[in-house]
Amino acid sequence: MAKTLRRLGLLGAAAVAGMALFAGTGVISVTPTAGPKPIVGGEVADIKQTPWLGYYSDTNGKFTGCGVSLVTPTKAITAAHCVRASSVTFGRQKGLTGSGGTTVKIAKSWKHPKYSAPGSGTGYDFAVLTLETPVTGYAPVTVVEKSDTGLYPEGTPATVYGWGHQKSGGTNSDDLRKVTVPIISDANCAKSYTSGLHPATEVCAGLAEGGKDSCQNDSGGPLIVGGKLIGVVSWGKGCAGANAPGVYGELISALDDIKAQL
Ligand code: ARG
Repeated sequence: MAKTLRRLGLLGAAAVAGMALFAGTGVISVTPTAGPKPIVGGEVADIKQTPWLGYYSDTNGKFTGCGVSLVTPTKAITAAHCVRASSVTFGRQKGLTGSGGTTVKIAKSWKHPKYSAPGSGTGYDFAVLTLETPVTGYAPVTVVEKSDTGLYPEGTPATVYGWGHQKSGGTNSDDLRKVTVPIISDANCAKSYTSGLHPATEVCAGLAEGGKDSCQNDSGGPLIVGGKLIGVVSWGKGCAGANAPGVYGELISALDDIKAQL
């Protein structure tokens, strides 16, 4: 019941038309017109708007979990915890049933040397992939610069993209999805995560009431502010819960190390 009521609040007035209230029986049942979606609480995104966006795939280009962002024709940024010998695919809208795009093998994966497992460890969940062949025809995304501290203040709307889970314990999305969530300050995020958070190299984003978030298999994917890549999906407690924001690798905090790999 508590869950039902929380959802009611989240969906707001726009969804009232889709709700049936059985007050007589004391049961409130909700038929949402819009419920949690892959990349929780978001919408389908068009890969043509983010041509630099890709994902770990098999050699046929099928999504196998984790997003990647092309930052030069031969380099992509992702999360260190995503790294495995594999291929990546760019320019494909439907990760499970789609075709087309460009699939390339990963020649080399650099994980930040200070990285260890997200959610405990040390933060630094950053990786740079070197691609076996240059990916042409997909304009790379601009990586945040040292002077871009103004992209991180609390409340800044940040957009995250991925083919990951629809909800905690859900399944992957066929279509690329996106959701926009406000940045949360280190001080406020530390109230949600009393352990495991590494504010020096991590930035949080989400709504206090939950409902919008990245989720499993969105990892490594981009957090975008002002058209620039400012973070990579790293971890969170469940997905989209109240006071449990998404935690992202904060690219600006390790820029020298990362740029040295590009
Ligand atoms: N660790 C997850 C992955 O490997 C990402 C989890 C993100 N969680 C969140 N609540 N934003 O895909």
